[in-house]
Amino acid sequence: MDRIWIKGGRPLQGAIQISGAKNAALPLMAAAILSEEPLTLRNMPDLQDIRTMVALLERLGLPTTVEEDEAHGRLMRLDGATIADTCAPYDLVRKMRASILVLGPLLAREGNAAVSLPGGCAIGTRPVDLHLMGLETLGAEIALQEGYIHATAPKGLIGAEVVFPKISVGATENLMMAASLARGTTRLVNAAREPEIVDLGRCLQAMGAKIEGLGKDTLEIEGVPRLHAADHAVVADRIETGTYAMAAAITGGELELLGGRIDDMQAAADILERGGLSLTASNRGLVARRANERLVGTDVMTAPFPGFPTDLQAQYMALMTTAGGAAMITETIFENRFMHVPELIRMSADITVHTASALVRGRERLTGAQVMATDLRASISLLLAALAAEGETTINRVYHLDRGYEKVEAKLAACGAEIRRLSGNG
Ligand code: UD1
Repeated sequence: MDRIWIKGGRPLQGAIQISGAKNAALPLMAAAILSEEPLTLRNMPDLQDIRTMVALLERLGLPTTVEEDEAHGRLMRLDGATIADTCAPYDLVRKMRASILVLGPLLAREGNAAVSLPGGCAIGTRPVDLHLMGLETLGAEIALQEGYIHATAPKGLIGAEVVFPKISVGATENLMMAASLARGTTRLVNAAREPEIVDLGRCLQAMGAKIEGLGKDTLEIEGVPRLHAADHAVVADRIETGTYAMAAAITGGELELLGGRIDDMQAAADILERGGLSLTASNRGLVARRANERLVGTDVMTAPFPGFPTDLQAQYMALMTTAGGAAMITETIFENRFMHVPELIRMSADITVHTASALVRGRERLTGAQVMATDLRASISLLLAALAAEGETTINRVYHLDRGYEKVEAKLAACGAEIRRLSGNG
C-alpha cells in the first residue's frame, strides 16, 4: 500500500486546476443507463471511484471510452445501446457505495434490477431505506434477499409524490433518474439541493427529461418515454476547491483555484472567511489565502446544502487546529465522522470529542508524525495538517485519497509542497 511523505512548513504558492466533481460525475455516469443513445461527459476527473463506476457500467453492458481533450478536460463516452445485465454485484458495490445509483436507472429502463446492499461503511451505517421507499412509491416491488436489493416494476414505474423524511443526496438522484422515464408526473418533496444534483438535473434535461425546480427543495419531473444522446460538462468540484483554499490558509500561502466557484459553496465560504480566510473571485476562478497572521477559531455545524458540507468537516478541523482560540465542530450528517481526530492528536492537535461535537483548541503549531488514513476526507485532513506541521509526516493507507482527489501530490508539489508518494508497505 502506498504512503505519502510530507515535510511541512512551506507556504503554498501558485495555481491549482480544480477537477470535475466526483460526486457529480458518478450519478452522471449512472444516467447513461437511461438512454439507448450515447452520453458524452466532459471535464471528468481521473479517480479510483470513477474507475469503479466504469467497471460496474461495463459489467452491465455499457462500453465506455475516455480521451483527453485539451479544451474540456477528460472526455468520457458511455454507450447505453444495450443493457446486458441488471445486477450490480457485491464485489463492486462494496468498493463504492455510490454504486447504488444504478438502481433507479436500471429499474426505469429494464423494469428490474438487483443491487448488492452496500453494507457497513467507515463513516457510519449509511442505510438505503430512502432510496427504496422512493422507488416503492413509484410502484417498484422490492425484496431483500441474500444481501441483494431485488427490485422489479413489471408494469413500469408510475409518477407519484415522494416526501423524503430526511434529505438524502443519493436518494434524490436515484429518484430523479427513475422518475425521468416513469409514466406521469413525480414530485420529490424535501429533495437535496446540492450543486451536484443541479448538475445531474441539467444533464437529464439535455437528454430530454422534463424537470422543474432544480436547486429547490421540491422537484417536479414529468416522465418521458425515452431519453436521447447528450453532451455535458461536469461541474467543478466545490469540495476540492474548499480543500485547497484551506491548504493555502493553513500553510500561510496563496493559491489561485482555477475553475473554482464561490457560488457553489457560499455557506462554506462564509465560515471560512470568519475563520480568517480571504477568498476573492479572479477571472480564472478564485484566490485563497489567510487574511491575517493567525486563523480565528470559529464554530461550525455541518448541514445539507446550502449549509456547511460534511465533506469539508475533516479539512476544517485540521485548519482549526492552528487557529487562535477554540472552535466547536458539530457533525450532523454522519455518525463516526471524526476518525481523523485521534490521528490529528498524534500530530499534537488539541481536540476533545463529545458525541457529535469536537472542541478544537488551536495551537501555535502541529508536529509531524506517522498517521493512518481511514476514509477519503479524513485522509486529506491529515494531509493539510502535515503541510502545516513542523517536521515530517507519513500518511499510511493513502488509497482512500486516490478515490477522490485527482493527482493530489502533483498539484501540491507544483505549488511548493515537499511531498512524495512512497510505494510499498502501508
Ligand atoms: C453523498 C456524497 C457524500 C456526502 C453526502 C452528504 C456522493 C457520491 N456522495 O453521499 O460525499 O458526504 O452525500 O453530503 O455524492 N440516509 C438514510 N437513508 C438513506 C440514505 C441516506 O438514512 O436511504 C442518511 C445517511 O445515513 C446520512 C444522511 O442520510 O446520515 C445523508 O446521506 P446522503 O445525502 O444520502 O449521502 P450519500 O448520497 O450517500
